[in-house]
Amino acid sequence: MAINIALTKGRLEKESIKIFDKAGFDVSALKDKGRKLIFKDNKMDYNYFLVKSADAITYVEHGVADIGIVGKDTLIESNSNYYEMLDLKIGECKFIVASLPDSKLFKSYSNIKIGTKYPNVAKKYFYEKGMDVEIIKIEGSVELAPILGLCDGIVDIMETGITLKENGLIVKDEICDISARVIVNNTAFKLKEKEIKEFLFKVSEVI
Ligand code: PRP
Repeated sequence: MAINIALTKGRLEKESIKIFDKAGFDVSALKDKGRKLIFKDNKMDYNYFLVKSADAITYVEHGVADIGIVGKDTLIESNSNYYEMLDLKIGECKFIVASLPDSKLFKSYSNIKIGTKYPNVAKKYFYEKGMDVEIIKIEGSVELAPILGLCDGIVDIMETGITLKENGLIVKDEICDISARVIVNNTAFKLKEKEIKEFLFKVSEVI
């Protein structure tokens, strides 16, 4: 039975393709992709498609994709149903809380505003700290928000720390480590058990 694999495009794309290549899959179409979005593996019975991380979870949850490659950050933020099977050890970064050095974040407990692409992660973090904060959803370049005065701090991912440093922000706390994971649709894991286990075995051998 054919296996459909949703790959997160962007940051994780190249590293995922490298792993698949090492695992012996035919990723030639993915390496020379042009503007195409679906790619056939001529060796394995696999179809790959490139999507945004949150959409990869959606495709897996609805069973359109049997397997997805998604960052743990997006998985923690979403509230979806799937099996998380493997840590690919790529796209390694951290969830952090950051602010300008003179921010009132953690000095005052009222009227704190937090800018983030990850409102659920931020809400949970500050709830556990007993802090009542206002969460402001931002879609990207989150580091800009405290500089422009939109918020007192941010919850975001940090990889090298360069973006924070170049924009004068400092890490106030580390929330957790993040890396890319293999997720599997619950039903597909039963119906296509042999094929999915073969995929997982081949990938786990090269990570
Ligand atoms: C992410 C994140 C930070 C940056 C961190 O953004 O939101 O802005 O990477 O990386 P660094 O620690 O290596 O500097 P991304 O590049 O995905 O784009 P975005 O800001 O548009 O979300």
